[in-house]
Amino acid sequence: MKNKSNGLAIQGGPKAKTTPYGTGKRFLDNELKNLKEALENNTLFYGLTESKWVKQACEMMKTYTGMPHVVACSSGSAAIHLGLIAAGIGPGDEVIVTPNTDFGTVIGVMEEGAVPVFCDCDSTLQPTAASVAAKITSHTKAVIVVHLAGHPAPVDEIVAVCQPKGIAVIEDCAQSWGARLHGRMVGTFGTAGCYSTNDFKHISTGDGGFVVLADPILYRRVLNYSDKCYDRLFQWEQHLLHHAMNYRMTELQGAVACAQLEKVERITARNHELGERFRERLKPLRGARLMQPIPGGYSTYWWTALFVDEGAVTVSRDQIVKALEAEGLTMIAYAKYDLIETRLFETRVTRPWLSDSRRMYPFVQPDGRSYTYSLDQVPVHKSLLAKGITFSFNRFYTDLDIDETAQGVLKVFEAYAK
Ligand SMILES: Cc1ncc(COP(=O)(O)O)c(C=O)c1O
Repeated sequence: MKNKSNGLAIQGGPKAKTTPYGTGKRFLDNELKNLKEALENNTLFYGLTESKWVKQACEMMKTYTGMPHVVACSSGSAAIHLGLIAAGIGPGDEVIVTPNTDFGTVIGVMEEGAVPVFCDCDSTLQPTAASVAAKITSHTKAVIVVHLAGHPAPVDEIVAVCQPKGIAVIEDCAQSWGARLHGRMVGTFGTAGCYSTNDFKHISTGDGGFVVLADPILYRRVLNYSDKCYDRLFQWEQHLLHHAMNYRMTELQGAVACAQLEKVERITARNHELGERFRERLKPLRGARLMQPIPGGYSTYWWTALFVDEGAVTVSRDQIVKALEAEGLTMIAYAKYDLIETRLFETRVTRPWLSDSRRMYPFVQPDGRSYTYSLDQVPVHKSLLAKGITFSFNRFYTDLDIDETAQGVLKVFEAYAK
């Protein structure tokens, strides 16, 4: 019988990807022009009358999201922390979140002395109303819904479960600029929508973030929490009224944010096109399932994943990854999105430099509650971790890049089909 894998590049055959992937410059004349103006203004601090860029970026975010209040900040992690402040999270509260995310999603939870409780995802890698409901206890104060990979999560259904119970929903939109659910932009369903502009997101200011909010009182609380509680936009009435951080965005980041926000719609629309093209080209795929947006979801594809059906192929997931890489498919990111199998969540030691019980705070609470973490608590996430292969998108990719990548995927799975 002819060996089906003979034509694979890993066996010495020709590569599926014959042309280099498209590249391009993210920062162009507008960023430079804005930065120059910011420097010429002789202050890089956002809060002065003559400062303009951070304020303008917030105005642009209002227009972009349709939300009345926006706070700019220093990172996506800071944005989520601020979202939790809006939600009134405090020590000992439980915050439900999926474990397939960046650490930045839970830093604010732990910083407040609250405890992350991991809920499972479904086959779309997103939390569901049922998986969230299964983790609600009398200590639950909030849920952070992570819109992962550019795909909207079913946040409307999660809000419907949480709202009657007085549980806040915070949206982590770090990876999902421009994603929509039933036509409505993610980040506008819950108490706060939190965005990142770190360098690995749809738009970049190097580092940075935004929180969008509907409630004016929470806006003031969040703004003050992000700015050492100076209350400078409100004539210092609440100066140092409560604890706060310095999570400020600088005018340099604001200047770049304004230039990036001008093109965010174009960027996310292109990512959507590329992702949908990939999905279309992979329709004939056998031996793996491609991650799909949920019904009513408009995805802006930051990445996507294939889940290998181990019963339908003759080799392991890792061997398939090697074969795909040999085909020249550098779109493969193969990122492992999991917080549970990390030193921090395995040992639960948050401050190894302390020698008493506070070193495990907030996982061990003063009232004796002790939280442990295992992949067995989230069986769907566990099984998908073992099967997943991730592909990242970049707006500079061409249609040909997508077609050749899909061809390479089909070729490898065809060769290894049982
Ligand atoms: C889903 C998600 N949430 C939060 C963050 C944290 O954002 P930042 O790195 O800007 O703090 C990231 C960043 O990678 C992320 O991907």
